[in-house]
Amino acid sequence: MMLESRTALVTGSTQGIGLAIARSLAHSGANVVLHGIEPNDQGDAIAETLKTTYGVQAVYVRANLALANEASELVASASQLLGAPDILVNNAGIQYTCGIESFPVDRWDAILAVNLSAAFHSMKAVVPSMRTRGWGRIVNIASVHGLVASVNKGAYLAAKHGLVGLSKGVALETATQGITVNCICPGWTDTAIIQPQIDLRAAKFGGDRAAGIRDLLSEKQPNQTLLPPERIGDVVAFLCSDSAAGITGVALPVDGGWTAQ
Ligand SMILES: NC(=O)c1ccc[n+]([C@@H]2O[C@H](COP(=O)([O-])OP(=O)(O)OC[C@H]3O[C@@H](n4cnc5c(N)ncnc54)[C@H](O)[C@@H]3O)[C@@H](O)[C@H]2O)c1
Repeated sequence: MMLESRTALVTGSTQGIGLAIARSLAHSGANVVLHGIEPNDQGDAIAETLKTTYGVQAVYVRANLALANEASELVASASQLLGAPDILVNNAGIQYTCGIESFPVDRWDAILAVNLSAAFHSMKAVVPSMRTRGWGRIVNIASVHGLVASVNKGAYLAAKHGLVGLSKGVALETATQGITVNCICPGWTDTAIIQPQIDLRAAKFGGDRAAGIRDLLSEKQPNQTLLPPERIGDVVAFLCSDSAAGITGVALPVDGGWTAQ
């Protein structure tokens, strides 16, 4: 299999896009360190399912990436369990929508910490062992909002644009060492993070969720379809393959045409 003998650390991988990424990498033969904020028994149960479904090693590490010390220790904790990661996917993220005048400072701080600073800490920790081995794959899950803007998303825009820039810089620093660093920029994808935005739209149509989703998609996403999280998982697996060894420093939209407009 394509990623047999590789070990992957995927942040925020107990649900949504992160879990789809973990499944896709395990399907390709990689051993997986799952990460999340859920209690250990819940994370361990998801790891157990990955092991039995795909026949790989899987473990769970709990860490709150809003806290710099936990973010900077995550790679070391993962390395103790399954060895230094060959693949790092920075996927954990949070959102809060609000105009600039009343944007809460604590939400700004949390979004910058989880969506941007955590990726800085984990890349800083993982690059030395990737350099030593002469092979590494880093995939950072940014967003279309790392490329273009929408209203009421100041902190998320700052974090995701920052993540795209940071990834390009690390790609250049590691380009001669068999390491690639790329971002994926998803459009609307069917996960928990966008439920508050769907609920707001649905309220305009008397609580009709399907109408709310249609309204959301019609504004920005030309294929008019919420992406299944697996669409992102499969692209991550491709970027981790040897076929993608020549791709580094890109911010790849997987967005149903959003950023083509
Ligand atoms: N769903 C979309 O439409 C969409 C679009 C573009 C980008 N994204 C990005 O995809 C990534 C995954 O999001 P998702 O859509 O699967 O949403 P999600 O809410 O289902 O998953 C977010 C993950 O981040 C983790 N997380 C949140 N706060 C954390 C913290 N303090 N410490 C550690 N982990 C924390 C959660 O446990 C969860 O696993 C995020 O970076 C998000 O910004 C999502």
